[in-house]
Amino acid sequence: MSLALTAPEKQEHQPLAQLRLRHATLADAQAIAAIYNASLRTPPYQADGTTEADGARWLAEQMAQVRQLDAPPIAHYLGPMSLPMAANLIAVHLRAKRHMLVAELDGDVVGWMGSLGLHERPGLSTLFEIAYYVAPRVRGRGIGTRLVDHLIQNASEWGVDRLLAMVWSDNAASLSVLRRAGFDAWGALPGAITAFGKRRDMLLLGRVLPNVTG
Ligand SMILES: CC(C)(COP(=O)(O)OP(=O)(O)OC[C@H]1O[C@@H](n2cnc3c(N)ncnc32)[C@H](O)[C@@H]1OP(=O)(O)O)[C@@H](O)C(=O)NCCC(=O)NCCS
Repeated sequence: MSLALTAPEKQEHQPLAQLRLRHATLADAQAIAAIYNASLRTPPYQADGTTEADGARWLAEQMAQVRQLDAPPIAHYLGPMSLPMAANLIAVHLRAKRHMLVAELDGDVVGWMGSLGLHERPGLSTLFEIAYYVAPRVRGRGIGTRLVDHLIQNASEWGVDRLLAMVWSDNAASLSVLRRAGFDAWGALPGAITAFGKRRDMLLLGRVLPNVTG
């Protein structure tokens, strides 16, 4: 398990002039669920031999388990997201006045970022735990980076002074986004994730923002 965080060199992405970032509304539920579920089917962990077929099989198993739950989890869990779950996730963000962003390209929602998590605990309200997802067809064009940057740029106005992301140690794309956004290694949960037949480490990456209020 490596916690070394060296910022990658700045890469120039294709211009995303048409990209629009905005807060999610309930009308985005379908797109949000679809992007999340596509992420489960297309894991970025193929370096270890995990294929898209492995992802689809694993997703089917997870779906069977979720169907048996009375109250499916709404966020930050490893399993498929149904339409009602996505709608609930958006509604929870709206009710809690948390920021859930979507990225729109040519009128289509192609990515999103939620910020529910640890900060729901008392005393942690200015720490946002972020999780973000980009449609496979538009990955690698800077959309993930733009979502994280947008939150950082608005952090002061939105009452955020610390960001936390929990990332699988072999999720190179997400680690690249976070390192470039100035996140540091805050910790690790060794072997905490079991998925696709393998145990994986969960890394905790964080960033203290300059607009600390207290
Ligand atoms: C992580 C994710 C959101 C990144 O979105 P994105 O729009 O592709 O992000 P960006 O284009 O801003 O940056 C991606 C970076 O990862 C790099 N990358 C992509 N795939 C990679 C891979 N398999 N190995 C190494 N680096 C990779 C890209 O080269 C790029 O880095 P660069 O700009 O230095 O070249 C997207 O890959 C995704 O949705 N993954 C599945 C869901 C997920 O893992 N979410 C994160 C949970 S914390």
